[in-house]
Amino acid sequence: MSNNFKILTILGSPHDRRSNTRALVEDFVEDVAGSGLPLEHRVVSLARKKVLPCKGCWNCTRNKPCPVSKRDDLEEIKAAMIECDMLIIASPVYTNQITAQLKALFDRLFTWCHIFPLLGKYSLSACTTGNDGQDEVGRFLEKMLATYGTYSFGTIDSVFGFTPGFFPGRERARTKNKSLAERVARTVLEGKKPPVNRMQRRMFRVMRRKMTGVHAIRCLRQGNVQGQPEPPWLRLKMMKFFIGKLKFTEAQLDTWAGFLDFELEWWRSRGWLDVKSFEQLTRRPIPAGFDLEQRLLAHDRGEQASEQVRDVAS
Ligand SMILES: Cc1cc2nc3c(=O)[nH]c(=O)nc-3n(C[C@H](O)[C@H](O)[C@H](O)COP(=O)(O)O)c2cc1C
Repeated sequence: MSNNFKILTILGSPHDRRSNTRALVEDFVEDVAGSGLPLEHRVVSLARKKVLPCKGCWNCTRNKPCPVSKRDDLEEIKAAMIECDMLIIASPVYTNQITAQLKALFDRLFTWCHIFPLLGKYSLSACTTGNDGQDEVGRFLEKMLATYGTYSFGTIDSVFGFTPGFFPGRERARTKNKSLAERVARTVLEGKKPPVNRMQRRMFRVMRRKMTGVHAIRCLRQGNVQGQPEPPWLRLKMMKFFIGKLKFTEAQLDTWAGFLDFELEWWRSRGWLDVKSFEQLTRRPIPAGFDLEQRLLAHDRGEQASEQVRDVAS
């Protein structure tokens, strides 16, 4: 196995080889390599992969198999995302947003939005467009990359990517992105990370509130699990107040307490429920016996396709 730095690009364009977005990324990666970083670049082109849209069954959050994952290439794409050192997510602007192919992938990675599965990896987003929409797409991709726990170098984009293969903005974009390519190479070679950004902090706060909230309601309904921190008394008091005010029924409270099994188990096993900041999260070591790949890939979970799952899927 080589020691080269592994860059993975997920290309959301349906055009694969003729894609302007691919050209933008390949120029950039070539310039990173030209700045002295020995690397391997793999492109997973969604034009050549099948990723079915999410059915919204919530099975993944309950630790149950996804009803559609046996019929598409999701697991293979996930494995590539776990393996890489730097993830580039690239999409053209399609009607002011990312492509439907890429959105399907994000939706299918629903549980990944809560557990920082790619914590500590480097990342970048990339976007081409005719003349508009690149800011919205850049912001959205940055949010997803922060949600997955990566350290982003930001977004590279270009206008004047009119039609596949007709890309008059290409050289201009390459010149503009050269200094960033050099910075990427330098940062990686020095073993550093880009500074933690506002989006990373924000996504951490959002997820922390969500997961400690589910933990608290579960403690209220089912008691705590040994070794886990007790929810702060003030939070419990406020929860009880709002539960009374909003007149939640017992059944509703139990449903709430049953939310996000997979994610809560992840936070508990990683010892994250008492973590206060994104920086602390990245510094907390992975506990012995916590097999990230085993948990993220459907090795064994995929085998248990039960009647129940078929019911939800139909
Ligand atoms: C369905 C569709 C929607 C598009 N929507 C926009 C748009 O909202 N704004 C824009 O400036 N360009 C838009 N474009 C142009 C693409 O962003 C442009 O062709 C892009 O560079 C294509 O990248 P690709 O070759 O990697 O697929 C659209 C193109 C298509 C096919």
